[in-house]
Amino acid sequence: MTDRGDIVLDARHLSRTFTARRESGFFKKKFEQRAVDDVSVTLRAGEVLAIVGESGSGKSVLARMLARIVPPTSGELWLNGAQIDLSGRRGIDYARHVQLVLQDPFASINPVRGIRHTLERPLLIHGASKDDVAERSREVLTSVSLTPPDDYLERYPHELSGGQLQRVNIARGLAVSPSVLLADEPISMLDVSVRLGVLNLLRELCDTRLLAMMYITHDIASARYIADETAVMYAGQVVERARGTAIMDSPVHPYTQLLINSVPNPDHLAHRDSPASETKASGFNLHGCRFSPRCPQALDICHTNQPPEVDLGGGHTSRCWLSATDEQRTAVSITTR
Ligand SMILES: Nc1ncnc2c1ncn2[C@@H]1O[C@H](COP(=O)(O)OP(=O)(O)OP(=O)(O)O)[C@@H](O)[C@H]1O
Ligand SMILES: [Mg+2]
Repeated sequence: MTDRGDIVLDARHLSRTFTARRESGFFKKKFEQRAVDDVSVTLRAGEVLAIVGESGSGKSVLARMLARIVPPTSGELWLNGAQIDLSGRRGIDYARHVQLVLQDPFASINPVRGIRHTLERPLLIHGASKDDVAERSREVLTSVSLTPPDDYLERYPHELSGGQLQRVNIARGLAVSPSVLLADEPISMLDVSVRLGVLNLLRELCDTRLLAMMYITHDIASARYIADETAVMYAGQVVERARGTAIMDSPVHPYTQLLINSVPNPDHLAHRDSPASETKASGFNLHGCRFSPRCPQALDICHTNQPPEVDLGGGHTSRCWLSATDEQRTAVSITTR
């Protein structure tokens, strides 16, 4: 029996590199791109972990590694206390426990099959009987507030609104009763008017079904609304994490501060800071802090040495030299002398 707060999925030191090519004179030179670099996350029953970061920061690759669609280059995955053998294929049992919901319902649901087919297919694949699937499809449609369910089962995707179709998408993820739901930007394609409804639905499902949920977003304000814990990613690394609303209320890392200052606030539009993506030069620094080329507060050490993950207490951490202790800075100056 799982209780609220129990660890369901534990990812330890996950990394994923891809081989990419860049122009170099006449030739294209291969280089290793670290899409996700040593990221550890813990998903707990009845809790939402929000992953916030700009485009290309590694959020989807992380979610795909947790879903075992993309194999990690290194790291460990633990599901309900048991270590997963990452060398083998993803078993059907793992897929039942860990479901991924993607941002675009129009792209992830077969347009030529009815909603009944969309919901019943995963159930049949996972061995449910023909009698059970009909009842279960009605049940999940009801749980995502598409009621009465019989009004929706015979419809086709083009007969639903974006918000309704995203609810079907979530219902499909829930059909096999997973313990983990990975929601990759589930509201970003939706009209603003229905976003809050889907966000509230995810929170309610997490609470009532004790789902361990990962909510991926660009929008730090929506993370504050829904999450029990928030991790901010930049260039493949978690740069700051905290429980509750501490990330929004007392951000410590300069990147998080820039993200928050770029959230539109109708009261302060005239004084709004530039979005983080427009600050200073772009590009990553692989030797020192990855954010240092864009950081308005960078120190000399930031350009040359990777910052440690500094523990600020109460589960709040920041990967930044500005938060480091004197001992941590001295240790670096001794080893590099
Ligand atoms: N299959 C792949 N092959 C090569 N590079 C990849 C592959 N998948 C992702 N990447 C690279 O990994 C990095 C992280 O990608 P990812 O999709 O995780 O970003 P993201 O944070 O989800 O961005 P967005 O917010 O735009 O969805 C990107 O630089 C991307 O180009
Ligand atoms: Mg993505």
